[in-house]
Amino acid sequence: MSGQDPVTVMKQEVGRAAAQRVKSGAIVGLGTGSTTAYAIQFIGERIQSGELKDIKGIPTSFQARVLAKQYGIPLTTLDEVDHMDVAIDGADEVDPNKNLIKGGGAAHTQEKIVDSLAAEFIVVVDGGKLVDKLGSTFLLPVEVLPMAMTPAMQAIEKLGGKCQLRMGVKKAGPVVSDQGNLIIDAKFDNIADPAALEKDINNIPGVLENGLFVGVADVVLVGEVKDGVPSVREM
Ligand code: 5RP
Repeated sequence: MSGQDPVTVMKQEVGRAAAQRVKSGAIVGLGTGSTTAYAIQFIGERIQSGELKDIKGIPTSFQARVLAKQYGIPLTTLDEVDHMDVAIDGADEVDPNKNLIKGGGAAHTQEKIVDSLAAEFIVVVDGGKLVDKLGSTFLLPVEVLPMAMTPAMQAIEKLGGKCQLRMGVKKAGPVVSDQGNLIIDAKFDNIADPAALEKDINNIPGVLENGLFVGVADVVLVGEVKDGVPSVREM
C-alpha cells in the first residue's frame, strides 16, 4: 500500500471482499458512496474476466447507475425481478447491533428500499465508521419535499434534532436528491432508541425517508489497516 492513504486502502479491500461474496446468477443491489464504488468496480472486473456470469444489478442512485454502466454490470429494476439475492452498500455510522446511519450521499431513500429487499444486505465500511451509539459522529440525513422544509425542520427540532439544510458544493443553493427533494441534516446526540426515532421522523408530513437503518444489515464487513497491513473482518 506504499503511498496510498490508509482510508482509501481500507475502502478498496472491504469493497473487494464484498464483491467476492457475489455468486453467478445473483440479482445484486448496488449501493452508493466511495466504498461501494470499489465493490461495483470489483464486481464488474469479475464479470469481465468471466468469473461471474448472469449478474443483474439494481442501482440505488444516479452514481451507482453510472458506475455500473462504466464497469459493465447489466442493470434491471424492481419491476422486473421477484427477489434480490444480495445488496452491498456503505454506511456513515454502524452501532454494535448493526444499526446504521446512512445518507452521506443523499441516497438513503432508494438505498433503504433496495437494501431492505435483499435476502442478504452486506455493509462495507472502514473502521472509522464504528460507534457505540448512533448520532455520536454523524448528522442524521432526512429527505423532505421542498414545500415541507420549514414545518419538517420544526417537527424534527421538537424530537430533539438540531437541523441544517444540506448545501451544495460547487453549486449555489441546497443539495437536491435524485428524487428532486431537499436533505435536512439533524444533530441528535447519542440516539437512545433508533427504531422509535426512525418511525417518529418518518411520521412527519413531508418527510420521505430518514437515514436510520434499523435491523436491515445482515453482515458488516470492516476494513482495517494495522502496522501498514490492510485486512477485512466481519463484525
Ligand atoms: C450514501 C450513503 C453512503 O453509503 C455512505 O455515505 C457511506 O459513504 P462512503 O463509503 O463514501 O463513506 O449512505 O447515501
